[in-house]
Amino acid sequence: MPEPTHKLKIALLGCGQIADAHLSQIARIDSVEVVAVCDVHEDLAYQAAARFNVPKTYTNLDRMISEVRPDVVHITTPAHTHADLSIKLLNAGCHVYVEKPFTLDATESASVLAAVEFSNRSICVGHDQLFDPMWLRCRDWIQRGLIGKVGHIESILGYPIAGNFGALVAANPNHSVRKLPGGLFQNTISHPLYRITDLMDEDQPKIIGGWHTQPEYDFPTEMQLSFQGRTQSASLTFSTHIPPQRITRVYGSKGSLEIDIDAQTIRLNKIAKLPGAFAKLEVSWQHLRNASWNFANNCWRFAKADIHYFAGMKGLFETFYGSIQNGTDPPIPPHQIHRVTQLMDRIFDHCREQDGTSRINNVSTTPNQEVSKCL
Ligand SMILES: NC(=O)c1ccc[n+]([C@@H]2O[C@H](COP(=O)([O-])OP(=O)(O)OC[C@H]3O[C@@H](n4cnc5c(N)ncnc54)[C@H](O)[C@@H]3O)[C@@H](O)[C@H]2O)c1
Repeated sequence: MPEPTHKLKIALLGCGQIADAHLSQIARIDSVEVVAVCDVHEDLAYQAAARFNVPKTYTNLDRMISEVRPDVVHITTPAHTHADLSIKLLNAGCHVYVEKPFTLDATESASVLAAVEFSNRSICVGHDQLFDPMWLRCRDWIQRGLIGKVGHIESILGYPIAGNFGALVAANPNHSVRKLPGGLFQNTISHPLYRITDLMDEDQPKIIGGWHTQPEYDFPTEMQLSFQGRTQSASLTFSTHIPPQRITRVYGSKGSLEIDIDAQTIRLNKIAKLPGAFAKLEVSWQHLRNASWNFANNCWRFAKADIHYFAGMKGLFETFYGSIQNGTDPPIPPHQIHRVTQLMDRIFDHCREQDGTSRINNVSTTPNQEVSKCL
C-alpha cells in the first residue's frame, strides 16, 4: 500500500463527553493530525485543546472551516444537530465522521446520504464496536465457517440509569436526549442494534416487543425486542437493571459464539461430536481451552498496554482515514447506515403503538420543533 503523501487534517466539532475518547484514539494514529476543535462553549473547546495539545480552538464552525480547511471533521455534538452539521460540512468539502445515532430519522439520513453523493465526499458513522478486536475476530470466525450459517443473534446492552450520563438524563426532563423521538433509546440502542444488523441479512424483519418504564421514572427505560426474519431471528435487550455490559451471542448451524466487548473475550461453543456422557467432558474441555486462550490473549495485550475501552473507535477511524487516503469504499457502506436508521424508526413507531403513546415524553411540541430551538 503506498504511503500517504501528507497527514490528513482532522477537526473535531463538539467538545463534550465523547470528545475525549475521539481525541485520545486519534492521537494513537500516525497518519493524521488534529488541527482544531470547535464548540459553542468556548471554555469546553479551550479545555479539550489544552488536554490534547490541539493548536486551534473555535466557537464558530464557518471560521474553523475557512481558516484550517480540515480534510475530515468529527461531529461529536448531540443527535439532533447531526444532519444539518453533516450536510453543511460535506457541502464545504470535508469528509465527515458522525457519532451515532447517525440522524434523528430516516428522512434526515436520506438527506445526508444525498449530500454525500452530491459532494463526492465520504461519510462514516460511529458504529465503532464493529471494529473492536473481539468483533473483528467474531466476523473472521463466522467467515471461516466455524459456527456454520448464522440463525439467531442475541444482543444485550446493560445501562444502569444511575450511572453518570443516565442520572443526568433522568434528572432533567428538558435534557436533549429526552426530546429525541426515541428518547434514551435513540441515543443508545444503535450499538446493540448494529451488532445485529451486521450479521442479519433480513432488511425488514418483523418486530415484536416494546419498551417499558421502571416505576421510579416518568419515561421509558427498558426495552426488549425480537426481530423475526424468514431464515434468521434476533433479540435486543436494553436493561437498566443490570451492570454495564455489551454482550452478543451468535447462534449458527454448527455452534455458537459469545462476544463480550467489556471483558474482551470471545467464546466458541462447537456442537459436541462425542456421544452421551463423553460430550459433557468435550464441552467443558472446549470451555477450558477458550478461557485459556482469552486469558493468554488479554495478558499479552495488557503487557503491551493494548487494552482500550474504545479500541473499536481507533480501528474504525483508521479504516475510514485509510479509505479517504486510498480512494476506496468507506468502512460502513451508506446503505447499512441508512438501514440501521430505518430500523430505529420502525422500532420507535412499534413501541409507541404498543403502549398507545404518540411520542415518548409528555412534551406537546414535536421533536423537531424542540430540536430546532437547540440548534
Ligand atoms: N460511541 C459511543 O460510545 C458514544 C458515547 C457517548 C456519546 N456518543 C454520542 O456522541 C454524541 C455527543 O454525545 P456527548 O455525550 O459527548 O454530548 P455532550 O452533550 O456531552 O457534548 C456535546 C457538545 O457539543 C457541543 N455542541 C452542541 N451543538 C453544537 C454546535 N452546533 N456546534 C458546536 N458545538 C456544539 C455542546 O456544547 C457540547 O459541548 C451523541 O450523538 C452521543 O450519542 C457516543
